[in-house]
Amino acid sequence: MADELRVRLAGYPSLVLGLPTGNTPVPFYQELIRLHRASLLSLAQATSFNLDEYLGLAPGDPRSFRAWMQAQLFSQVDLPANRTHLPDPVEPAAAAEESRRYELLIREAGGVDWMLLGIGRNGHIGFNEPGSPRTSRTRLVELEAKTIADAAKTFGGEQHVPRRAITMGIGTILEARAIRVMAFGSAKAEIVQRALTGEPTELVPASLLAGHADVRFLLDTESARLLSQ
Ligand code: F6R
Repeated sequence: MADELRVRLAGYPSLVLGLPTGNTPVPFYQELIRLHRASLLSLAQATSFNLDEYLGLAPGDPRSFRAWMQAQLFSQVDLPANRTHLPDPVEPAAAAEESRRYELLIREAGGVDWMLLGIGRNGHIGFNEPGSPRTSRTRLVELEAKTIADAAKTFGGEQHVPRRAITMGIGTILEARAIRVMAFGSAKAEIVQRALTGEPTELVPASLLAGHADVRFLLDTESARLLSQ
């Protein structure tokens, strides 16, 4: 994946990226940093839009996705700070306005060229939990119990995990020109099977990616375990 991005950036340096947080993209970000340090990749003219952000955190909260991206990628590559975008972690009452602003920013940037996604154990993409409409746009969402449980470690217990977030919608994600999905480890095997072999359904948001003209999945042996059965 990192090599595909390297080649794309070499041909078109002002690429607009869609980026996830989480465990899945960490090796990918480390590889981007390595390529950058070896002068093989530059993000100096690129723009990035993250998929999602928790609501109700103070700006600069170390548990925010903004802080995570800063530590894992932004501080270590040459992507200009004013072209790294995440939804602001506003109070829920301001979420509708923030969502509109984010959609407009994406549109003004010309749309996302290359979108990277992870998959939640419940099939979510971004924070589009099961049942999210296929046509949904950036908006406030309530997080599911499984998603809250998966974030508990970062927040020092489930009770501290924000219940709400802003996420790009499924419709927003599907407008990206190219979509790349990564899923690693046996905990993702069941959802990978449902997403790739079942009928596309809003109950498994990742299954809706099947309708996209340029989508590719990168799986490891464990996450692909149930596909050959
Ligand atoms: C994070 C995001 C989520 C994650 C998903 C998988 O920005 O959008 O959809 O990609 O929850 O998380 P990990 O990679 O931690 O298993």
